[in-house]
Amino acid sequence: MSELSSGLSRIFRAHKDDFTQRVTMLEGAVEAISAGKLDHKLRASAERDAHKLAGSLGTFGLQRGTELARELETTLAPGRPPVDAIDGLHLSKCVAALRDELDGEFARLESVDAPGTSATLTPVDARAVPSANGEVGGGDVHEHRPVTRTDLFDMPAAAAAVADGRVLVVDDDETVREVLVDMLAEAGYAARGVGSAREARYALENDDITLLLSDVSMPGETGLDLIRFALCEYPGTATLLISALEDPGIAQVAMDFGAYGYLTKPVRRSAVLIGVMSALRRRDVEARERTARLNLEDNLRLRTSALTEALERLEGAAAQGCVLQGETIHRWAQSAEYRDPGIGRHLKRVGQYCAVLGQKLGLHAESLQLASVLHDVGKVAIPDSILLKPGPLTTDERLAIETHPGVGYEMLHGSSSGLLDLAAVIAKTHHEKFDGSGYPSGLAGTDIPLEGRIAAVADVFDALTSDRGYRLAWSLETTVAWMERESGQHFDPDVLAVFLGSMDEIRSVRSLLSQ
Ligand SMILES: [Fe+2]
Ligand SMILES: [Fe+2]
Repeated sequence: MSELSSGLSRIFRAHKDDFTQRVTMLEGAVEAISAGKLDHKLRASAERDAHKLAGSLGTFGLQRGTELARELETTLAPGRPPVDAIDGLHLSKCVAALRDELDGEFARLESVDAPGTSATLTPVDARAVPSANGEVGGGDVHEHRPVTRTDLFDMPAAAAAVADGRVLVVDDDETVREVLVDMLAEAGYAARGVGSAREARYALENDDITLLLSDVSMPGETGLDLIRFALCEYPGTATLLISALEDPGIAQVAMDFGAYGYLTKPVRRSAVLIGVMSALRRRDVEARERTARLNLEDNLRLRTSALTEALERLEGAAAQGCVLQGETIHRWAQSAEYRDPGIGRHLKRVGQYCAVLGQKLGLHAESLQLASVLHDVGKVAIPDSILLKPGPLTTDERLAIETHPGVGYEMLHGSSSGLLDLAAVIAKTHHEKFDGSGYPSGLAGTDIPLEGRIAAVADVFDALTSDRGYRLAWSLETTVAWMERESGQHFDPDVLAVFLGSMDEIRSVRSLLSQ
């Protein structure tokens, strides 16, 4: 008992009557053996007393007393040796030795309370100061005690450094509960005890418990059930189990539940404090990891949100840009009317025809529609006297007109706009012919970009079916018949076939954008 703090000594002495009474009961049971009067009820009661004493004395580190109580418990347990097989004399000596142990400890504690002595340091304690390897020097009755002054938690500074937890001790054994609370309080923890799982649940709900230190075997709800409840409902609370049973199976179950550790009785101060410190540190690490994970998730959410917003803005800008491009092109086509009446609608119809063809040939219809509106933009370089001449053109005038694809290409190509690049290609190739007899480059077949072959069909169809200054519009039937004859010569046969197969849609466009 010498290494016990004044608090633990106080608890031990507070149980003096209880311990003494239990020893007296055991003496009575042993006497009953000699008298042949040990019945089942008395035997069971004696076993409980021995069990209680073994647990309590073990908790206080009273090794010899614990061993004696254990032997009494084992011998007196109902169903163990038959009464007539019990060595009554030996058992009587056990009880007497147990009483001597207790009386000796109480006497010693009273002596150290005398003036000029210390409750925690006696001549026996001085002999018990350990060697460098932590073992206690021999010679006194406490030489087998597992707890020594090497315990680092005897140092107030060390205790203060780890005293950051609110610990709830749950044990139906009042002695064990008080001892544990005292150990923890002395080490600087805010500790308190309750005697049942029901009280522990109430405490968990109403107090901010950082560590739950629970006995396994308790009347009613067991410590395992309590730990499982705490881990589910209060995941931020560290959990430790403590049991008189050195059963790896129970420890495994507890760990599987998520308990941080498993301690065994009799409680050892160093083991308890190290277990508590480890559990609280693990709890802190896990709390930091949980916080870091949540922060990471928050950051990820924020960044994802910012990225989504940026993309939405870009998409909005892109959509706005497309709308702006389309609007600009249509305004330009409209303005061409001031110079060449009717041309604006021609340009728009060609754009729509190209869109019909582009969609069926797997191209981007909207881009093709807008780009093809610009196919004749190069005509701005043609003098009015030629462009608006009502009669047939001379050779020079024809050559002048034939410059408009090249002029249009020069006007449109080289920008950062994909749409204008496409418009440049169409402007340059819409007068090429499939048989190579077109202008300005004399390209043939698939050397002519598909967009150019599409625009050629759309442009010629609209030109023939529209009035011009020097002639009236051809009928649809005449136009189609002439174009069919030009398949493979002026026109790409495949593109023309798709065009003629789309005549319903072509008619709709023509009707909508009629002259
Ligand atoms: Fe043209
Ligand atoms: Fe044209």
